[in-house]
Amino acid sequence: MTKAFVVGHPIKHSRSPLIHGYWLKAYGLPGSYERLDVAPADFAAFLKRFGEQGFAGGNVTIPHKEAACLGVDRRTDRAARLGAVNTLWIEDGLLWGDNTDVLGFMAHLDQSLGTGWEQPVDNALVIGAGGAARAVVAGLQDRGISRIMVANRTRAKADDLVRDLARDRGPALRAIAWDDIDAALPGAGLIVNTTSLGLAGQPPLTLDLGKTSGTAIAADVVYVPLRTPFLAAAAGRGLRIVDGLGMLLHQAAPGFARWFGITPQVTPELTALIRQDIEGHS
Ligand code: ATR
Repeated sequence: MTKAFVVGHPIKHSRSPLIHGYWLKAYGLPGSYERLDVAPADFAAFLKRFGEQGFAGGNVTIPHKEAACLGVDRRTDRAARLGAVNTLWIEDGLLWGDNTDVLGFMAHLDQSLGTGWEQPVDNALVIGAGGAARAVVAGLQDRGISRIMVANRTRAKADDLVRDLARDRGPALRAIAWDDIDAALPGAGLIVNTTSLGLAGQPPLTLDLGKTSGTAIAADVVYVPLRTPFLAAAAGRGLRIVDGLGMLLHQAAPGFARWFGITPQVTPELTALIRQDIEGHS
């Protein structure tokens, strides 16, 4: 029986066990996927040990993604570029790490908006500069979005993101001031919130959406609640909106495929199950 895990600290709110448990059942596989609470001081030892405990691999969440990137034997180019690992597995005796948040975000946009959605989008505005922002920017760069602006409350973090992810050739990536967000809205074909603004219990992200073009797309990585005040305001203006749940679901699929050998589908039934769970708790 193949065993996998999600490791974090704290971990009890993770919905990954529900997602992987659904797929194990749906595909009739005799595996398990469990939550492990490991404190930062014990994480390096955990990385060395989990194979001996019979685990094929697992997911890594807050606050261990950077430590996981440093602690693996091999990492994918994507994980190295982001400096963060969220998926672990053992291959030929070596511990490997990947970052599937990039694929997760892009797969979600493709499924929600239809392939080719990026064709008319030549300017994206990413709000925030944390780990989620890095994954979003990397995904948009891979799709050839020609201009990407990053705005963060703490400007230095936006500058760091640009320094780490800018490429010699390819799409132009630049930081803009937090106070210049509204001025950047008219040209933005895609606006992505990667901050915790709008999360239950946090203040909302309030933008002057009257300045956006009617064809803009608004996306949020926050998924509790599913319809954040930002998305609700965007929908009220007739913009296309993309919620944060799909990124969570789609980032899970590549790990499942590695450990359990089947590429799982993000079905409407799975989406409804997680949606219900979130709504039941919020
Ligand atoms: P994640 O890995 O989920 O991206 P993170 O690295 O902690 O999480 O990043 C959180 C992001 O939310 C940051 O961009 C943070 O801005 P700062 O760098 O200025 O802290 C942003 N954020 C959190 N609370 C915020 C608030 N009240 N106003 C504006 N931005 C906020």
